[in-house]
Amino acid sequence: MTSSVRVELGSRSYDVRIGIGLIERAGQELAPLLRRSRTAVLTDETVAALHLESLKEGLDAENIASSHLALPTGEKTKSWRWLADSVDWLLDQRVERGDVVIVLGGGVIGDLGGFAASVLRRGVRFVQVPTSLLAQVDSSVGGKTGINSSHGKNLVGAFHQPSLVLADIGVLDTLPRREFLSGYGEVVKYGLLGDRDFFEWLEANGQRLIGGDAESRIKAVCRSVQMKADIVARDETEQGDRALLNLGHTFCHALEAATGYSDRLRHGEGVAIGCALAFETSARMGLCSQEEPVRVRAHLKSMGMKAEIADIPGELPDAEALMALMAQDKKVIDGRLRFILARGIGKAFVAEDVDSELVRSVLADALREERFRS
Ligand code: NAD
Ligand code: GLY
Repeated sequence: MTSSVRVELGSRSYDVRIGIGLIERAGQELAPLLRRSRTAVLTDETVAALHLESLKEGLDAENIASSHLALPTGEKTKSWRWLADSVDWLLDQRVERGDVVIVLGGGVIGDLGGFAASVLRRGVRFVQVPTSLLAQVDSSVGGKTGINSSHGKNLVGAFHQPSLVLADIGVLDTLPRREFLSGYGEVVKYGLLGDRDFFEWLEANGQRLIGGDAESRIKAVCRSVQMKADIVARDETEQGDRALLNLGHTFCHALEAATGYSDRLRHGEGVAIGCALAFETSARMGLCSQEEPVRVRAHLKSMGMKAEIADIPGELPDAEALMALMAQDKKVIDGRLRFILARGIGKAFVAEDVDSELVRSVLADALREERFRS
């Protein structure tokens, strides 16, 4: 069974296909897009070992020739160095303006590969084949591509929409539990930002998702992608509503920078903690009841996820230093922080000018809790 969600962007509209066995059928899915029967695949070493062969077989079945480059696994690959290597490799492969590049992997390869496609010969088309839950529900859809800089995360990049997304739910079976839960952070985010019923469905079905139930996984990915597609169609370049997708991200980006983009904190884990902190901030501002952040944290904990700063292993800088890291966020306008806050679960909104003292106190309290526990 395959479901399809359309991202409506005029002449740049595309389908996100969600189902089982899509990688084996990649050749059939890709063929209508190709001007000649060849493609180049960017992937990471871990995903290559697990899923590249199936993809190649799927392409071979339609006589589509392919070459591949497997980059080192991990966030550090989202860098100038590996962008340059990828672009040079694509040029070595004689990828032409009319060709299509395939990007097979999680959000790191999706962001880097999409960015490489956007600058190659001033822009070639690309197909996202997301293999992590995070990439299936978020990063493969919506056209944000890019790399990190020494100044912070995702600060260099471009909007470049894929021509097709193939989200094969079957590949999630090989995803380590921690990575699955990291992606689940982004799934919960959708319920928290705009769909209370979905959040309640997740409270009831989260364990089935972890347990591998394909039907529940398809439902969760479809609902997440539909929500993202609707928002991106309204606001492709984040002039307004798209910022809602950044619920939890201002906190998350500061925590990721503070932990050196290391294994101490996966992106989706930071998003989950960030969402809980955004609800805590909202409650302290009187925007929602005190029970809402408690409920958010309870659900994350029940899933075995990190729910608060105290759950991050190792030392963290103080609240002042975290505030300084937040000031690098792309959502800063005229030096003022824009936060995504909520009037309740499913009711997020963009708050233009949030009292930095209040945010500092939320962080300071969370860090005190951390010291208390360690
Ligand atoms: P990732 O790409 O590093 O993948 C996580 C890990 O899972 C890696 O070790 C990878 O090799 C492995 N993996 C992926 N699929 C697998 C599979 N099927 N089986 C076994 N292992 C598998 O990280 P991620 O969590 O997927 O993505 C995080 C990145 O996405 C961050 O850089 C973040 O900034 C970015 N992101 C981008 C957007 C966007 O809109 N562009 C949105 C959210 C996150
Ligand atoms: N992940 C946030 C966005 O795509 O806008």
